[in-house]
This record gives sequence, C-alpha cells and structure tokens, in this order.
Amino acid sequence: MKKFACRCLRMSLLMVAALNPLVYAAPDPALEKQIDELLANMSLTEKIGQTQLRDWGTYAEKDMPAIKQAVRDGKIGGFLNVTMSSVNKYAFEELQRIAVEESPKKIPLIFGQDVIHGYKTIFPIPLGQAASWNADIVKQGARIAAEEATTDGIRWTFAPMIDIARDPRWGRIAESLGEDPYLASLLGVAMTEGFQTEDPTDPTAMAASAKHFVGYGATEGGRDYNTAYVPEGLLRDVYLRPFKANVDAGLMTIMSSYNTLNDIPATANKFTLKKILRDEWKFDGFVVSDWNAVMEMIPHGFAADAKHAAELAANGGIDFEMHTDTFEKYLPELIKEGKFSEADLNTAVRNMLRIKLRLGLWDNPYPRGNREQVLLNEKFLAAAETAAEESFVLLKNDKKILPLNKKQTIAVIGPLADAPFEQLGTWIYDGEKKDTRTFLPALKKYLGNDKNIIVAPGVSYSRDKSTAGFAAAVAAAKKADVILYVGGEESVLSGEGHSRGDIRLPGVQQELIAQLAATGKPLVQVIMAGRTIQLDQTLEQSTALLMAWHPGTMGGPALVDVLYGEVSPVGRLPLTWPIAVGQIPYYYNHMATGRPATDKNYTRIDKIEQGVFQHQPGNSSNLLDYGHKPQFPFGYGLTYTTFTYDNLQISAKEIGLGKTLTASAVIKNTGKVAATEVVQLYVQDIIGDVTRPVRELKNFQRVFLKPGESQKVTFTLHTDELAFHNQAMQLVTEPGQFNLWIAPNAEEGLQTSFMVK
Ligand code: BGC
Repeated sequence: MKKFACRCLRMSLLMVAALNPLVYAAPDPALEKQIDELLANMSLTEKIGQTQLRDWGTYAEKDMPAIKQAVRDGKIGGFLNVTMSSVNKYAFEELQRIAVEESPKKIPLIFGQDVIHGYKTIFPIPLGQAASWNADIVKQGARIAAEEATTDGIRWTFAPMIDIARDPRWGRIAESLGEDPYLASLLGVAMTEGFQTEDPTDPTAMAASAKHFVGYGATEGGRDYNTAYVPEGLLRDVYLRPFKANVDAGLMTIMSSYNTLNDIPATANKFTLKKILRDEWKFDGFVVSDWNAVMEMIPHGFAADAKHAAELAANGGIDFEMHTDTFEKYLPELIKEGKFSEADLNTAVRNMLRIKLRLGLWDNPYPRGNREQVLLNEKFLAAAETAAEESFVLLKNDKKILPLNKKQTIAVIGPLADAPFEQLGTWIYDGEKKDTRTFLPALKKYLGNDKNIIVAPGVSYSRDKSTAGFAAAVAAAKKADVILYVGGEESVLSGEGHSRGDIRLPGVQQELIAQLAATGKPLVQVIMAGRTIQLDQTLEQSTALLMAWHPGTMGGPALVDVLYGEVSPVGRLPLTWPIAVGQIPYYYNHMATGRPATDKNYTRIDKIEQGVFQHQPGNSSNLLDYGHKPQFPFGYGLTYTTFTYDNLQISAKEIGLGKTLTASAVIKNTGKVAATEVVQLYVQDIIGDVTRPVRELKNFQRVFLKPGESQKVTFTLHTDELAFHNQAMQLVTEPGQFNLWIAPNAEEGLQTSFMVK
C-alpha cells in the first residue's frame, strides 16, 4: 500500500480556487437566536406549513380563496413558478401580504422559479454558457437574471444545474455545464455567486438551488427520470464535486433529483442527503425535493403509499416538499406514531427559516418593481449578445471560408435562421419570442440592405419531413457565393423529459444539406441545438461548421458578428463530441484501460479481411466501426487564427506533498487575426490505489493575443489538486509519477512528467 496524505479540507478550497466562500454562510448566532424565538412559538401546523412548497398553476390558479386561507393559517412556506401575468402579479402580492400581515407568525413566503438561463433577457442555454469557458460571463448572466426576476419578487431560482452529463441522448444535458467536474464546479460557483451576490439581503439577490442531488446525469441510456448506478469513488470524485464546490462557496439551497442512485431514490437517500451533505459538508441551507418526486417514490416501488412516501422523504432529509402535500397530510400522524420526530421537523423548519432570514425576506417581502426600467434593458441585451458570441464553438473552417465578407451573396437556408422561439432553448418561463433577435433580420441590418441575401428555408421546422422546399433552396444556393445553413434542433427536442435515441439532425435536414452541398458551393453549417449532434456526412459536406447551441434572445446579432469576423470565435467544447450515438457514453476523462487503443493496434471494420483469425485485426479498447476517438475532443474549438504551443517548462521534476508545481508554455498567435486561446492544463496520475483517468482538466487560462504576439502562460498546481478517493474512500494525493500537458484540448498538447514524493 502506498503512502498517502489526506488533505481533505484544503482540497475542497482548492477546487474552487479564487472563489471566496461568501461571508453570510458563516454561522451567525444572532440569526440562530431569531430562529429559536420563532420556532419556540410555532404550532405543529405552522411548522409543517414551512415545509410546503406549492405549485402556482396547480393550486393558486385553481382555488385562490382556499390558498389565501391556507397562507393565512400559516400552512404554506412558498410557491413556485408563478407566470407573471398581471392577474398573477396581483395575487402574488396579495398572498405575500396575507403571509406577512395576517398569518400567525407573519413569516414571509418564498417564491421560487426556474430562472435557468435568464428571466426576460435569455442567455445561451447553460451548456452553451459552459462552452464560453468564461466564469465572468456565466456570473454576469446569473446576475442579470436575478436583477430581472427580483423585480417580480422571485427571490429563489432552481439553478445552477450542475449534474455532470456524459450522455448527449439525455435531453437535460442542455441545462448542464458539461462533462467535466472542474469546469462545472468553477462555472456552477460563478452562477451561484451571480444569483446570490455577496449580500443576499440585497433585494436583487436570489437564493440559488444547485440541482439535482445527485447522479441524475448518469441515468441509464440517457432516459430521463431513470436509474443511476454510480460507485462511491466516482460519485465523490466526479458527480459530487460541483455540489461540494458550491456548498463551500455559500450555496443556499439544494434540490434532490428524480433518479434512483444505487437503487435508492435520491429523494430519500440518507447517504447523500444526510451523511454527505449534512454530516460531512455541514450544509446548513434547505433541501427541496423535485416536483412531485416525493410521490414518485410510489411508482419507484420504494414507498407503499403517500404516507410512507412522506415518512421516507422527511426522514431522508427533505426540508421543503415541492408540489405535493404529503408532509401536511401525514407528518402529524407520523410524529404521533413515533415514525418521524418533532426534533427532525424542527431541523427542517430551521433550515427553511435560516434561508428566509438570510435573504432578508422580512425587510423586503414584495416584488421590488421597476420592471419597465430593468427588464430587457440595453445593457442586459448587450451582455446576452456577448455571452452568445462567446458560447459559439467553431468546429471546422476549411479554406478559411469564415469569416464571411459583406460582398458575398449569401443563401440563407435552414429552419432556424429566423425562429425566435426555438433559439431561446429549454426552460424559459418568462422569455418571449417577441423579444428575440434572430439571424435573418440581424443580417439585413448588418449588411444595410438585403440585396446580397437570398432566403429559402428548405424546411419549415427542424423535424419537418417535407421536401417540398428543397428545389427553391437548391436554386437559391446555386445563385449564391456561400450557403449558410442554420439548422439543428428545435428547443423542445432537448430539456427535461426530452431525450433522444437518435441524435442526428431531425427531419430531412441531412438530405437537404446533401443536396445543397451537391451544388459545389461552399456551405457553412450553423447548428443550434441543446446537445451534440451526430454529424454523419454533413461534416464532410460542410466547408465550415459552427456550434451555436440555443443562443437566447440575442443569438441573431451574435451570429452575424461571429460569422462576419467582427469578433473571433472563442468557445471550446465543454463535452466530448461523439462520432455516433454508438460511442456514448463518451468522455475524455475516462479511466485508463488495460488495452488502450492507438491508431495502430486495431483494424477498422472495412479493412478486416474475410475469414481472418479473430485476433488478427488487433484486440484493443476500440469500436471496429468508430475507432477510438471522438469526432471532436473535449476542450476543442477553432478560431480565425492559429496558435502554437512551445517551450513547456515545469519548476521541478520532483515535488514534495503539500508543495506547488509551476508549469508554463509559450503560446503564440501565428495568424493574422487577434483572438483568444483557451490554454488548458491537464494531468494524469499514472498509477493509483484505484485506476485513474487518462487525463483530468486541472486549470485553464484564456489569453487574448494579437497577430504575431506571444505570451508565456503559467499555471500553478498544488499537490492537493491531485487528490482522489482511494479504496478506503479517503481523499488522498498519492506520491508517484504524473503526466502533465499544456494543451489546446484534451487530445493534444505539450507533455512532460513530474514526480510527487
Ligand atoms: C425539474 C426541476 C425543476 C422543477 C420545478 C422539475 O420537473 O426536474 O429541474 O426545477 O421541475 O419546475
């Protein structure tokens, strides 16, 4: 057994390097005293009331008089997802008035909503934001969302979603921050900080809710709400890491997930909700169950009936029951029967009150108003445009067809060039298509007229199976200098409950692209989608390929700016892009295998001779048809210039445990355009107490370089950042040999090695 050093505490801090835990998250005796005083006088009914989160559409809109009475009686802790019509706005304020003026203890309600990537000003979907590799952009997006949502009194959001997602079939990958625990931790914390601010009593602050706790991204086959098996080491090193980073940064609330984790529903999983979250991490915010998830333990076959579900969830660690009312109905009996303790109820209520107090809801219970000045203001729209530009990933650019020039005649084809609703993406409660700026009008504005634009969509929506528009599209293509195809997936094809088994372009888009390519004209393909797409022959047929995700309100102008070179692309893939669905799950940081595939040690299916002995084509970890590489690796992305990496240096060949290594390389812009390179630091722990990933991202830096300019980029790496969970589930850094790369993506780069002693 190797020597190891346990560096658990320091490790957790290093994981969110440069992000300071927010001060309000420290224990506050005065606040705890306030909770004691409130709690001491609350009846059982009022206590249980604090655990009840009611869905607006299901309850309030159906029977307002009954809901008002329930609030007056202290039976409700908050509401979720109020769509802000004027009627609802009035009712919303009236309910809060009843809570703070007429309910027994005058405890304010908390209003929560899925403000996932914007409220009115919609930013790129989270996966797109992750492609920016830019924590400032992500933080600013959350800040703006919070400034907008709080005008309407929404002080709690169900974001960030930090489920590590390694399967693009899963529709919710669109809401995720990708496949990598380092990147998702960093960006997830940035989002939380943007929502919560350093002082959550600020009326523009919202409590964040990291979700979904935990393992939801690992649901089998990408099927939503499904089974997840995650061994404890992987859970701790990968799936839990972004949550831990957020808790350490002062996260206020957590949402449990729908899936079962190792056969126990996450809604009543004492191991994750109690042992890890409370005992180990000392999380003191509240845990909300997901929508209807308490009752869903019945079809899961875990709870016999609603009463049993309440018992399991309440004992399992849920403080706030979303949508259903099993706590209200059954906790009194369960307490009498000794199946749930009033002490545990008090703990749940404490967690609720602590967050309500930290948000300062007593001082600012009502919408802060000023909607007209705040929502969709020019500053916010400009930020959303920058975020969209930074999210785009250039995947191919043959013959330097991009950037386009204004003199070219351009045939704009495809279903998403002017689809205001679709480009907003999943989870937009309040975003409206009337506010969206699409590509086509933005292009006309940019060019000053439409004499060089020929429009022929070819298909009317992404799943359209009609080929009736093909002839016009091909005719347009023939007349143009360049074909710009803007296609992909409509917004509804990703997101919750919207997984796909076939991740190619839906409808007849592939056929349309084939016909357009056959004209011989250069074809620029822009994909808007909530996941990676199996490209098939469209990759070959496209001269250039730009991934634009679902870019949000300002997607159109952003696309014009990037396509015409007003700004250079900077996005990098936050996930591995597979060649085909048959490779999934496919992620760069997989464990080392006993027979790693190389270009030489296997034979592709079409090269295997008939009747050959079974070992002849080589036995390594590959797929005969798709090989051993993805279409594009994690971290990949091109821009309008090229960079070279040289002169990799490390400060020492050997370092002691607890010490810091410095690694540097010189990056040079060798092209003719100024652009940003995302310089990535990867490490491989070659031998471990458990097998270790072939590479792990440890850090990155974005460097902006003018043509011909070079810069030495320096990283520091503390040995605690090399820690992982060993067989005994200790977080350890093991001495031994490590590989290190400074690289433009997860497959290339300059490599060296060092020893930890
Ligand atoms: C989703 C959550 C969401 C909640 C409230 C659920 O169906 O899984 O992510 O926050 O609904 O709308």
